[in-house]
Amino acid sequence: MSLTSFLGWCLLLTPLVSAAYVYPNGSRLNQIRSMYAWEGFVYDIEPCKTTDEMAADFTHMKSRGARTVITFDFCGTGADASYYDDIILAAERAGIFIIPLAWTLPVHVINQNYTANDTFLIKSVPRILAVTEAVMRNPGPVLAVAVGDEPLYDDDAGSPDALAYYINNMRSNFTAAGLDIPISISELAYGWQISGNITALSDSVDFFMINEFPYFAQNAQAGGSNSSWQNLLTDMEYFETLANGRPLLITQTGWPSNEDEFAPNSPAVVASVASEEAYWNLLDRHCEDYFKAKNIGWMWRAYSDVIEGWGVIELDGTEKWPWSARLLC
Ligand SMILES: *[C@@H]1O[C@H](CO)[C@@H](O)[C@H](O)[C@H]1NC(C)=O
Ligand SMILES: *[C@@H]1O[C@H](CO)[C@@H](O)[C@H](O)[C@H]1NC(C)=O
Ligand SMILES: *[C@@H]1O[C@H](CO)[C@@H](O)[C@H](O)[C@H]1NC(C)=O
Ligand SMILES: *[C@@H]1O[C@H](CO)[C@@H](O)[C@H](O)[C@H]1NC(C)=O
Ligand SMILES: *[C@@H]1O[C@H](CO)[C@@H](O)[C@H](O)[C@H]1NC(C)=O
Ligand SMILES: *[C@@H]1O[C@H](CO)[C@@H](O)[C@H](O)[C@H]1NC(C)=O
Repeated sequence: MSLTSFLGWCLLLTPLVSAAYVYPNGSRLNQIRSMYAWEGFVYDIEPCKTTDEMAADFTHMKSRGARTVITFDFCGTGADASYYDDIILAAERAGIFIIPLAWTLPVHVINQNYTANDTFLIKSVPRILAVTEAVMRNPGPVLAVAVGDEPLYDDDAGSPDALAYYINNMRSNFTAAGLDIPISISELAYGWQISGNITALSDSVDFFMINEFPYFAQNAQAGGSNSSWQNLLTDMEYFETLANGRPLLITQTGWPSNEDEFAPNSPAVVASVASEEAYWNLLDRHCEDYFKAKNIGWMWRAYSDVIEGWGVIELDGTEKWPWSARLLC
């Protein structure tokens, strides 16, 4: 091989060997399997920030220890693949893993009014295709893909089988492109439990992305209360049975500092910064005895109060409390 063609090959291969994205044994699922403790944040993309702004947010998170980001909500119609390109590129610049989430609720939030066009086929499927397209263009930083945020709880697709269909379809396309990218849904234990025959869907996911919110429990108290931890454990036992050896990752957990965005179900609930901080610290305190012992990572919803009340920082960037969590224990 001549020197010029050798250098040409080096240039061509550069994007494939980015040191930040070397997966154990070449497998993202092994990476997920090895993760425990605090992993990172849920990041709301509804403000449609630029690549530079997102890269700055991701770099800030990373400077505080975050390793992984999962997106939440959507920008514009959510069906523009080039915006997912921007998100993935921002993650790559920051050197952080990204889990792009295809928002399958046809509208933004559950109590928003639907119009005749707000259906799964018209609004949600184009988002799934857009995410797939962008991920295939720049797979490196993509740790996994989420098809829906609580799609079973909100019954986004009409049936669990309809979701399974799109997951399997996405996987076929990844496989045909030589990509081994794990796919799942980010869902509550309750969402799986109320959805009838979940066999095909459960078989279609590579691992379980877990939404865990003791704040919504009927017996919720304060973030740091024993009931918070007990409720988490009850849900996790359900997921361990469902997963049958497949990895678990808590992709969304948190506690709000106010009740403005999502109302609670318990009259005794405490929504305050102190309560939010106490739930964060409760998770961090269980690093050794639970998260490391079980090899489970947790990601905090949310990075900022774009999801009102749920962030660790206010909209203007002010920290609500001096948050930090262990990455190793
Ligand atoms: C990588 O593969 C080897 C050999 O199969 C195995 O022993 C090891 O546990 C794997 N590493 C990870 C992180 O999965
Ligand atoms: C949604 O519909 C309800 C009932 O028709 C109405 O009261 C409410 O104002 C509507 N909300 C929005 C955001 O349009
Ligand atoms: C639904 O979409 C069609 C085709 O784009 C459009 O003509 C119609 O006005 C839309 N209906 C509503 C209620 O938005
Ligand atoms: C997979 O590829 C086929 C053929 O190009 C396409 O029709 C389908 O929409 C793709 N599926 C996803 C989830 O992107
Ligand atoms: C549930 O779905 C699976 C896969 O689609 C099917 O094989 C099974 O018979 C169904 N179980 C029941 C109880 O309907
Ligand atoms: C919470 O649980 C711990 C450990 O199980 C126990 O020691 C403590 O008394 C409990 N606190 C309350 C208020 O129930």
